[in-house]
Amino acid sequence: MFMKLICFLLLGAVGAPEHVSASTDDQFVYSSFASAGLALDGAATVTPSGLLELTNGSLQLKGHAFHPTPLRFRESPNGTVRSFSASFVFGILSAYPDMSAHGIVFVVAPTTDFSAALASQYLGLVNVQNNGDESNHIFAVELDTLQQDEFRDINDNHVGVDINGLISLESSNAGYYLGGEKGGFENLTLISHEAMQVWVDYDAGNSRINVTLAPLGVAKPAEALVSATYNLSSVITSTAYVGFSSATGSFDSRHYVLGWSFGMGSSTAPAIDISKLPKLPRVTPAEARSKVLEIVLPIASAAVVLALGTAVVLFVRRRRRYTEEVREDWEMEFGPHRFPYKDLHSATQGFKSKHLLGVGGFGRVYRGVLPADCASTMDIAVKRVSHDSNQGVKEFIAEVVSLGRLQHPNLVRLLGYCRRRKGELLLVYEYMPNGSLDKHLYGGHEAGSKKAALNWAQRFQIIKGIASGLLYLHEEWEKVVIHRDIKASNVLLDDKMNGRLGDFGLARLYDHGADPQSTRVVGTIGYLAPELGRTSKANPLTDVFSFGTFLLEVTCGRRPIFQDEHGNQVMLVDWVLEHWHRESLADAVDVKLRGDDCNVREARLVLQLGLSCSHPLINARPTMRQVMHYLSNQVPLPELRSTDLSFRTLAMMHNDGFDSYIQSSCSTSSKHPHTSSVYK
Ligand SMILES: Nc1ncnc2c1ncn2[C@@H]1O[C@H](COP(=O)(O)OP(=O)(O)OP(=O)(O)O)[C@@H](O)[C@H]1O
Ligand SMILES: *[C@@H]1O[C@H](CO)[C@@H](O)[C@H](O)[C@H]1NC(C)=O
Ligand SMILES: *[C@@H]1O[C@H](CO)[C@@H](O)[C@H](O)[C@H]1NC(C)=O
Ligand SMILES: *[C@@H]1O[C@H](CO)[C@@H](O)[C@H](O)[C@H]1NC(C)=O
Ligand SMILES: *[C@@H]1O[C@H](CO)[C@@H](O)[C@H](O)[C@H]1NC(C)=O
Ligand SMILES: *[C@@H]1O[C@H](CO)[C@@H](O)[C@H](O)[C@H]1NC(C)=O
Repeated sequence: MFMKLICFLLLGAVGAPEHVSASTDDQFVYSSFASAGLALDGAATVTPSGLLELTNGSLQLKGHAFHPTPLRFRESPNGTVRSFSASFVFGILSAYPDMSAHGIVFVVAPTTDFSAALASQYLGLVNVQNNGDESNHIFAVELDTLQQDEFRDINDNHVGVDINGLISLESSNAGYYLGGEKGGFENLTLISHEAMQVWVDYDAGNSRINVTLAPLGVAKPAEALVSATYNLSSVITSTAYVGFSSATGSFDSRHYVLGWSFGMGSSTAPAIDISKLPKLPRVTPAEARSKVLEIVLPIASAAVVLALGTAVVLFVRRRRRYTEEVREDWEMEFGPHRFPYKDLHSATQGFKSKHLLGVGGFGRVYRGVLPADCASTMDIAVKRVSHDSNQGVKEFIAEVVSLGRLQHPNLVRLLGYCRRRKGELLLVYEYMPNGSLDKHLYGGHEAGSKKAALNWAQRFQIIKGIASGLLYLHEEWEKVVIHRDIKASNVLLDDKMNGRLGDFGLARLYDHGADPQSTRVVGTIGYLAPELGRTSKANPLTDVFSFGTFLLEVTCGRRPIFQDEHGNQVMLVDWVLEHWHRESLADAVDVKLRGDDCNVREARLVLQLGLSCSHPLINARPTMRQVMHYLSNQVPLPELRSTDLSFRTLAMMHNDGFDSYIQSSCSTSSKHPHTSSVYK
């Protein structure tokens, strides 16, 4: 009593608030946030009464609050993450009795910058791209009030333990275990407008994470609500911030923290003195009712207006589509793949040059962002095909349809297309964040980019991926699809550096078994099979020829036709074959791979496979299925036979006209010897 009096007097003397916040390196407790000095952002504020208000009732908000200084979670930078414990009291006030959005998360993170995170179901913690990403180094406990299938939520009232994202490691319906003889479990409703207390305990010795929940005033239950085993040494950085994140979506909800304590290592989280906590604002039933009206009425009338508006827009758009946009009979079946021009225009900010990804044989490619739904976006690549293209519209639509229906992890998805009145065509592809393979192979010694060279494991992975995509096209789909333009610049890399085959602009479809008709020779110089010089019949094995060139290109890091040190044009195939003759295949491997733990055995296998794929005699080439077997080592690659020593001589006999064509076109366009071309 005496001590308390002194304490009171002392505090009174310096004018500090009665609610003291103590903070040392390892331990702190806030029973009011008035003078806590938390790092706040978004909608987060501290109310005059000392409540931490994370969201204020406006829609689509994020709010964050962090302890101002980062805490040391490891004794030394290489040490393990220490045990820690946290406790906090929270309250969620929704304008509706049984609906609220979206919840509160307790967070341990390397940064306080969550500007890239999204509101609503992402809880201000992550976004579409980085959800679950190991590089987030986030440990979190979610108090989630809406069920989201994408995060495999169990229901709309749960507590979950999260590592790096919103798919919980473990979660449970909100509630608590009663102690004593009878035991049992009592449900709690997170959005009941009642304050509740949460305890988070991490026991480093057992890698055990416990989360316990109880109504305010009830002592910590002996049994935890959620208990998970996870070694946080692989998650939390040596120093990290602790705090809260919250977000609203389409419901008026307010998220509050009333008090909070934390302890690291041997110092456990101090008890929160609940008698000192600020009170949650009360929403009386009358207020709640008038609030409901206040909100429901405008929403209802807005909805009516919106519905009318949408109907009018749809009607006008449909009319316009039939009157202004070209739509021919053969196009009917492709209807769902059409994009409105307006959407593509705004997705690329009017085809601004800063969004230009590259220029190919058929037109320019732009990067764009399409709104996917209210909270997320989708990255796309829009190929704008110029008017003077040699390709007919119908052929392009064929590309759209074939690619749109083809589904394989090693093919670039074609999402749709857009045709404009003037015959202009736009193709919409999935955006590949790592661009085309040629830029990675040649980035080092050709102009500009300073991309790190791909290592052998990545190259081999890409090779196997493209082989599998091509096998799918040749043999596994309902029709035989001949790609006709396999080359490094048509191989795009996704976010995980998987190779994906793109650009089916030249593909033709053949029914299985049907005799391939003669068509124009298409493709790219350096990749064209010799038989195409004599007949223009396409065959899956002409793709295998280009694939062989591609294999050599990726392993040697050289273009299919390159200049040697004397300035002579050299065919890559000839050059590798010469190395093979001299039994120095290892010397043909890209110099950038030396020193890398390049698997010489695999690289030699790929080079030999490249040579047999590039065999001038069409029937001597393996099929893509055989190629897959060789690449996966299921079947040993037959050694090139001695009769193959006459490989190129044979080739010369078969395609002298073709080779001279290559020579002449190389000298006229030697700057871009392999630029895509379509010729007759
Ligand atoms: N889906 C995509 N995602 C990201 N970048 C892309 C995508 N599609 C194309 N690009 C970029 O745009 C550039 C041009 O592509 P495009 O396919 O038109 O030309 P290309 O690679 O020279 O092939 P071709 O001349 O046969 O059309 C590519 O090199 C690539 O960097
Ligand atoms: C809530 O916070 C946001 C962002 O800080 C602000 O724009 C909005 O006006 C606030 N709404 C209310 C009801 O205070
Ligand atoms: C921590 O690890 C790094 C490399 O992993 C090492 O260089 C350093 O000496 C280690 N430090 C301590 C204190 O063990
Ligand atoms: C508690 O909630 C769960 C899930 O909603 C439900 O299945 C269970 O019946 C509830 N228990 C009680 C005692 O209300
Ligand atoms: C957790 O992982 C670290 C290394 O990452 C290890 O040193 C430690 O022993 C692990 N803890 C447990 C309990 O297994
Ligand atoms: C976690 O919960 C389990 C089960 O309730 C309990 O056995 C264990 O002692 C708890 N550990 C901690 C660190 O609270």
